[in-house]
Amino acid sequence: MSYTTLTYETDDNGITTITINRPDKLNALNKEVLNELSDAFQQVAVSTDVKAVLLTGAGEKAFVAGADIKELSSLDEHTGRMVSQKGQQIFQSIEDTRKPVVAVVNGYALGGGAELAMACHMRIASASAVFGLPEVGLGLIPGYGGTQRLPHIVGRARALEMILTGKQVKAEEAREMGLVNMVVENPVDEAKKLLTTILSNGPVAVRNAIRAVYHSDNKRGFQVEADLFGNLCTTEDAKEGTSAFLEKRKPDFKGK
Ligand code: COA
Repeated sequence: MSYTTLTYETDDNGITTITINRPDKLNALNKEVLNELSDAFQQVAVSTDVKAVLLTGAGEKAFVAGADIKELSSLDEHTGRMVSQKGQQIFQSIEDTRKPVVAVVNGYALGGGAELAMACHMRIASASAVFGLPEVGLGLIPGYGGTQRLPHIVGRARALEMILTGKQVKAEEAREMGLVNMVVENPVDEAKKLLTTILSNGPVAVRNAIRAVYHSDNKRGFQVEADLFGNLCTTEDAKEGTSAFLEKRKPDFKGK
């Protein structure tokens, strides 16, 4: 795929690395980045070559330093609501990806950058990572899903503390809060290792597991889990996985 503000590369294992590439502006999310991200995740959804996604930012300094403040400065009530809704939809499409999506965070993940990382299924950080939702300092609030996702990830009290103070949270504290899965020296390598482990499992099961887990915050979650479990029992992968265990061999999953 060819983009102006992103790079998009798929390796032989089906891991697609999407890199936001505006390092001189600390990868801030302007309209063009958001449109290209939206397109890239549509490609991810339809491409049979893509099995998993690693999302990161170019340069040493930032994953993404937020929505583009220049663009925010001229919004009115109507355009502000539209911008928020559009960002929400794009980030929702990332969360809704039925292939595992890992954010690799080095440096600043502020505002829309923290919200983007939170829309990914998992987050792996380097020690330089810094998370924060500084919007109240701009007289705004997080508008790309941050007020909704952060409480689910770290709990309401900690989310309020971060959102109301705008304070920055360093990598290790973010890990303790559950905001990142791990802090490692080589987050890209670690993310690829994690994705490779996930991809060795039954692909339909992985897809259904992501769906089930994202229903865990509503009352229908148990019903959805049972439906998806029942659905998996009809797949060749489940027959293969259970037979392989009983026959003491490694499974050979076909993704069917
Ligand atoms: N939107 C637009 N441009 C941004 C940006 C953003 N969110 N974050 C950084 N940039 C730009 C800067 O304007 C600067 O551009 P310039 O070189 O043309 O002046 C460039 O990226 C480098 O940023 P700079 O501020 O010089 O780097 P720094 O190391 O001194 O500070 C930050 C880094 C992250 C602390 C600082 O850039 C910052 O506070 N950014 C805004 C964070 C924010 O409030 N995000 C939430 C937005 S809703």
